[in-house]
Amino acid sequence: MGIQGRYTPNAGTFELRKAICHKLEKENGISYTPYQILVSNGAKQSVLQGLLDVCSPGDEVIIPGPFYVSYPEMARMADANLVIVETSLNNNFLLDPKVLESKLNEKSRVLILCSPSNPTGSVYPRKLMEEIAKIVVKHPRLLVLSDEIYEHIVYAPATHISFLLLCLECGREH
Ligand SMILES: Cc1ncc(COP(=O)(O)O)c(C=O)c1O
Repeated sequence: MGIQGRYTPNAGTFELRKAICHKLEKENGISYTPYQILVSNGAKQSVLQGLLDVCSPGDEVIIPGPFYVSYPEMARMADANLVIVETSLNNNFLLDPKVLESKLNEKSRVLILCSPSNPTGSVYPRKLMEEIAKIVVKHPRLLVLSDEIYEHIVYAPATHISFLLLCLECGREH
């Protein structure tokens, strides 16, 4: 008896993409169709492919520090320049919107947000996310790569909010 096999679609099976849409709607309040979903083998692949897709040499990738250790290497692989924006314990390791704004220019291409954060555990509150979203929409070339891999590891009173939801509310989808 021969073994029969075939490749599944590169974007992921339709059933899986439908299930992801259901999850996004139910848990994050975001509406997508399966045709807008791309499944990968993990968050690392998604981040790397996202950076490779959109960065050109000389573009800047903004990474709040302390950061997940692979982000800078992935940005380097995409030929981008790193802009590390340090945060501090006094600010719960959250980005200061004014500092972020001072780092942005026409070369700014991707801001990587990680909430809840590895390694700090910080969770961006809605108000701060809104402030960041308002700054981001002023920079049409700037994309936000929102790594929400730890969205279910949140301790009360913190709550996770997807950055994408705020961008949609601000009138811009990233
Ligand atoms: C913030 C963050 N993003 C991405 C990854 C990589 O995730 P995956 O194993 O799904 O590729 C990790 C793994 O530790 C992580 O901490």
